[in-house]
Amino acid sequence: MTGRLYGIGVGPGDPELMTLKAVRVLAAVPVVAYPAANDGPSLARSIAAAHIPAGRTEIAIRVPMRAGEPPESVYDAAADAIAAHLEADRDVAVLCEGDPLFYGSFAYLHDRLSAFPATIVPGVTSLSACAAAAARALARREEMLAVLPATLPDAALEARLAEGGAAAIMKVGRHLPRIAALLVRMGLAGDALYVAQASRPEEAVLPLAAALEEGRSGYFATILVGGGGA
Ligand SMILES: C[S@@+](CC[C@H](N)C(=O)[O-])C[C@H]1O[C@@H](n2cnc3c(N)ncnc32)[C@H](O)[C@@H]1O
Repeated sequence: MTGRLYGIGVGPGDPELMTLKAVRVLAAVPVVAYPAANDGPSLARSIAAAHIPAGRTEIAIRVPMRAGEPPESVYDAAADAIAAHLEADRDVAVLCEGDPLFYGSFAYLHDRLSAFPATIVPGVTSLSACAAAAARALARREEMLAVLPATLPDAALEARLAEGGAAAIMKVGRHLPRIAALLVRMGLAGDALYVAQASRPEEAVLPLAAALEEGRSGYFATILVGGGGA
């Protein structure tokens, strides 16, 4: 007998956007793990805090705050710590902001822990929260929707955007000036919206030009392009 691994999507920030299933699982599991900045709090844990009973064993997965993916060793060590509980027949829930399998780090842990039974609880994605904050459709009718990381080089972004349709550009952070320049060049900046911290108290929805002028550079920001159903 081993424990079960749960990947729990806790949604984009507003605790009311957690699913009933996520809340039920959290009430039952003895071990809860979550990514956290080095020496800092965990966003995923803060979203779910009201549903983590006192006295649970907690594992903070310390992710170095620098550009790019965290080193493999971070996931190796976290997977080892989680595996020790699973081997002792204790269920472990790994919290993930948004959905665990939508650009979520849970995928890297799941790869390493594939020998254990797992249940993945989907979460409301940040993409849905951004569309809701902007009160704008992500896509309509036959419109295509591209989801693009801003960390891609200009040429890759341009090639995909040139295919037409709507787009959501994630991981904007410090790439905002470069992405804005690209969208202007392609004639796509006019109706583009910058959505930061969707569903959280700090939520902001701005025309792209205004976000640029304000010098925004936060990590939790997404640019929505199109969605009018061209
Ligand atoms: C590593 S991805 C995680 C996505 C997450 N698993 C999900 O389901 O939405 C992080 C990126 O998601 C976007 N993001 C996450 N939360 C957001 C929010 N509340 N508002 C706007 N964008 C958000 C940002 O583009 C951010 O750089």
